[in-house]
Amino acid sequence: MNDQFKKDVELGLSQVPKSIPSKYFYDKTGDALFVEIMNMPEYYPTRAEFEIFQKQHRAIIQAMEVNTNTMFDLIELGAGDGTKTKELLRALLYGSYDFNYVPIDISQSALDSLGADLKNEFPSLKVRKQQGDYFGVLKTLKENNHPKVILFLGSNIGNLSDEQSASFIYQIGAHLKTGDKLILGVDLIKSEALVKPAYNDPHGITKAFNLNLLSRINNELGGDFDLSTFHHAPEYTIEEGIAKSYLVSLIDQEIPINEIGKTFSFEKGEKLQTEISRKYNDEILDKILDKTDFEIRAKLTDSQNYFADYILHRF
Ligand code: AVJ
Repeated sequence: MNDQFKKDVELGLSQVPKSIPSKYFYDKTGDALFVEIMNMPEYYPTRAEFEIFQKQHRAIIQAMEVNTNTMFDLIELGAGDGTKTKELLRALLYGSYDFNYVPIDISQSALDSLGADLKNEFPSLKVRKQQGDYFGVLKTLKENNHPKVILFLGSNIGNLSDEQSASFIYQIGAHLKTGDKLILGVDLIKSEALVKPAYNDPHGITKAFNLNLLSRINNELGGDFDLSTFHHAPEYTIEEGIAKSYLVSLIDQEIPINEIGKTFSFEKGEKLQTEISRKYNDEILDKILDKTDFEIRAKLTDSQNYFADYILHRF
């Protein structure tokens, strides 16, 4: 992990423009900051998707096309704290469905606390935790013959380019059978007035979340970033539909990173890209799905039309 981090940082800082993969946000500090982000009034996606799971779980279950006689696996990629999923789990248990819940997360500590929480709230739920990254764990999907429903919520897909998304969704499909489902939660394209504050909050939490990447490089790779010499500057236009996060160097500077054994120069005003957060509409999703073996079975949106959960059918 540390080795991959080192390689990715070296590669990312050697490119023009500079970038670092957003998956490195999530160490212990980053996880905690992301929880704070989800609780900010400006970060609408979490509440919007929660509303969908809270109010429309019947429609979700109907589109899943599962029945109470056949046991199935409900597999969640990047389970986190399970707040939205619990709404669905409760409805499935209440409806006497027979299923295993398989939360997959990169963070063992997040999985352990989710496991403990679920045991307490739903003692009869069968939970099979799996630690790992999405790709590694996908392979284990073929281990049994149960019908499968994959949950990929929170617009986590938005961190990928459309090409990467198509390839990832295709690969999910390659590990599934006809009739299996993928529930994909995506943030919808909307005005700058709504999106920008979600990524540029007045509390400085998103700034700290982005700067934490530099702290990680300092702590884990012996970097010498002075966090006060970077400004956080997200960009978004409704035309493009992609929120992009940048750290911008306030001065000309040379930054040594010990473990890499190199020094990286930043010009005043030079940007380091830390994340893309793609927003979607039907047309964009259709183009992505064209390159996969999935078709849309249902689309559920929240009351403000901020967010959508698409139930995709593997054909
Ligand atoms: C967890 C990837 C969906 O892109 O909105 C929140 C992460 N970044 N604020 C997103 C994030 C800045 C989030 N995802």
